[in-house]
Amino acid sequence: MINNLKEYKSKGYKGFEIKNGDFSSVWNAALYAELYPDYEALRIEIAKLIHDCTRLKHPKVLDSCCGSGFLSKDLYLDGFDIDFADKNPSFGSSFVSELTGAKIIKASWHEYPDTADFKKEYYDFVMCRGNSFIYSSGGINQEFKANSELATQRYIDSLSGLYSVMKPGATLYLDKYKDSEIPFKCKVGFDLETNKEIVWYCNRKIDEGYREASIGYADESISYFHCCDDLDSDLLFKVAHTVGFKIREINLKYEKNFSVYLLQK
Ligand SMILES: C[S@@+](CC[C@H](N)C(=O)[O-])C[C@H]1O[C@@H](n2cnc3c(N)ncnc32)[C@H](O)[C@@H]1O
Repeated sequence: MINNLKEYKSKGYKGFEIKNGDFSSVWNAALYAELYPDYEALRIEIAKLIHDCTRLKHPKVLDSCCGSGFLSKDLYLDGFDIDFADKNPSFGSSFVSELTGAKIIKASWHEYPDTADFKKEYYDFVMCRGNSFIYSSGGINQEFKANSELATQRYIDSLSGLYSVMKPGATLYLDKYKDSEIPFKCKVGFDLETNKEIVWYCNRKIDEGYREASIGYADESISYFHCCDDLDSDLLFKVAHTVGFKIREINLKYEKNFSVYLLQK
């Protein structure tokens, strides 16, 4: 029994075709319909933020964990000069094939200084969004074991990698789950074939030093399960300062799900 568990049904609740237990279509369609009902407004808000931070007409932008191209694909289509990178470029093969001249650089953040595709001090604005940075602390599935000391070093190594490709004065956009997040179970839809309900679940276990998140069938017969070391904003500020960034939290009107931080080199 979980205290304070918030249970609710997504506004984007609908049927999904789940093939061989692959819930990636649910991640993309249901979660983003759930999280970003005002997507077009978010797109405009982020474009303005990039211009405000860089004060440039044509800033060099990097999406450092593009995944399936959420937001950055559209910013690219809007004319932004964006490079894409990800630890797992295969997640983005579909969106990148639709963009002329685009490719995804394969690299984890801590590997940037040794990645030939990256130039030092090159980008004006780097994005690390979608609650991705929390997973830089290490194994996220079966092999995960909370270890705050090791995690702290890995956050520093990852931020140092991102820092290395940024111009002096450049901005890193980084978001993560809110410190105030309470455990929730959100019914995102159902499997069109089996009729099984699909549930997205998150639980931050502060005392045990980690956060778990999953998406899968409500009966838990199959689910994608991710864990990460707990990263609160105090620790994020500490590691950002260690690397040499100035950091502040900002409020965006159309990003209500995650806390957003701007880290300036
Ligand atoms: C939740 S998805 C977010 C995708 C996208 N940025 C968005 O806003 O929807 C997380 C992405 O981060 C990538 N990722 C995780 N750890 C990474 C690392 N250490 N270096 C680079 N990318 C990483 C994953 O491969 C995945 O594509």
